[in-house]
Amino acid sequence: MSDTAVSAVINVDIEGPQISRHVYGHFAEHLGRCVYGGFYVGEDSEIPNEGGIRLDVVEALRALDIPNLRWPGGCFADEYHWRDGIGPKEERPVMVNTHWGGVEENNHFGTHEFMALCELLGTEPYISGNVGSGTVQEMSEWVEYLTREGDSPAVRERKANGREEPWKVKYWGLGNETWGCGGNMSAEQYALEARRYATYCRDYGDNKLYRIAAGASDFSYGWTETLMKQLSHLGCQRVERPLYQAVSVHYYTIAGTWADKGSATEFTEDEYYTTMWKAARTDELLTGHANVMDLYDPTKEIGIVLDEWGTWWNVEPGTNPGFLYQQNTLRDALVASVHFDIFHRHADRLVMANIAQTVNVLQAMILTDPETKALVLTPTYHVFQMNKGHQDAASLRVDTLGALPSREVGEATLETVSISASRKDGRLLVSLSNLDAEEARDVVIDLRGGTIGEVESQVLTAGALQEHNTPQSPEAVAPRPHDGVSVEGGKLRVHLPAHSFATVSGALA
Ligand code: AHR
Repeated sequence: MSDTAVSAVINVDIEGPQISRHVYGHFAEHLGRCVYGGFYVGEDSEIPNEGGIRLDVVEALRALDIPNLRWPGGCFADEYHWRDGIGPKEERPVMVNTHWGGVEENNHFGTHEFMALCELLGTEPYISGNVGSGTVQEMSEWVEYLTREGDSPAVRERKANGREEPWKVKYWGLGNETWGCGGNMSAEQYALEARRYATYCRDYGDNKLYRIAAGASDFSYGWTETLMKQLSHLGCQRVERPLYQAVSVHYYTIAGTWADKGSATEFTEDEYYTTMWKAARTDELLTGHANVMDLYDPTKEIGIVLDEWGTWWNVEPGTNPGFLYQQNTLRDALVASVHFDIFHRHADRLVMANIAQTVNVLQAMILTDPETKALVLTPTYHVFQMNKGHQDAASLRVDTLGALPSREVGEATLETVSISASRKDGRLLVSLSNLDAEEARDVVIDLRGGTIGEVESQVLTAGALQEHNTPQSPEAVAPRPHDGVSVEGGKLRVHLPAHSFATVSGALA
């Protein structure tokens, strides 16, 4: 172990902005085995289900208190026509999922099934509308179908399909990646489209929409600037609130290139550090987009929604390349824990984030075995669980004294200790990651402005960064009670094993 402890200070009585619970959001696309085989197995399946929705998946996700679920894509959203997914299942048309493996989509999982899933999960729906190949009228009528009371053509259609009462659906995406799979538009072209779509996606009754304009890829700040400019140049003064309430951004963590992203489970130490450096760049990403937004919206009325993030590796050997199925190791868990620290620090502007994707696709929480039907919780799942106390908590600043331990990654530097903290209901929650592949590290936190009683702590680590969970070994990477924590003279000392993530919580007095 390195003999130099990291020193930090937290003023537990100075609350920062609230961490939106929605930064712990999720994403389910019609892609590979995420919806079909993951969330939805059909009513005739031998797997216990309710209306075709897999109940073991629901139970596992309920334990995470997931705040929202984005659907139906991704790229799929921009070729999805919602009316194909309502009414009797046997009458629903089949379409080709051109983005993801060219498979036939029977539309058996549609609007009503998605809303039933959200109800079972106790989560808020976030629907991505079709701008790329749809029409303003189509999206406008989807909003009406879902959210309007009374008697109108779309409402009658909904009632005929068995749903009398409207649902509440606040979050609406105005397209997805419109610079690419969502229509290959220029920023200027899309910004005008976003205004039009936002106009006709109406608020019905007390269902006030939160419209999210399809945002930039990675560090394309110009895209964000164009969207922000268009918001502030309306032709009249009669619009009471901005046409859209947030702009999105997508950022994936890969160790290699898009052509060869690297294996999920077989990687070198160098590839590990490159991965962690890429993950840590999320801080630069959010700062950059927020800086641009500050120029047009200094009061931070418009939110950032990072509605796709996470690791993207080469698919598992022997699986369909269009299905994006990948394993998930301790490295993925540390990518998640570092992202959450950054999200907590950007609580003033970041209103939502959605990991891609919840089941069987990319950085999943849950992997299901198509043969045995077994369900495995990934290391990433455990980070969401250990961190769930940060949802809607007041962020607390963590100041470190002196430079943090670091290592060179090519020309860049990666800080190898990451910490964030929050308070809620009189309790302190501190999350700590030690990214060093080999060295353990102690962190000593001077807690000022309050004292902490008995602490509870968990640690997530494994013998090697490559370790992962399988049906044969489902708990190879799982949280364990952590006894490497002590409080003395107002100072919290936490021992962090090499490549580990820990949480510490306790009541404040
Ligand atoms: O999450 C997989 C894909 O990544 C999404 O469909 C798309 O929006 C992004 O490019």
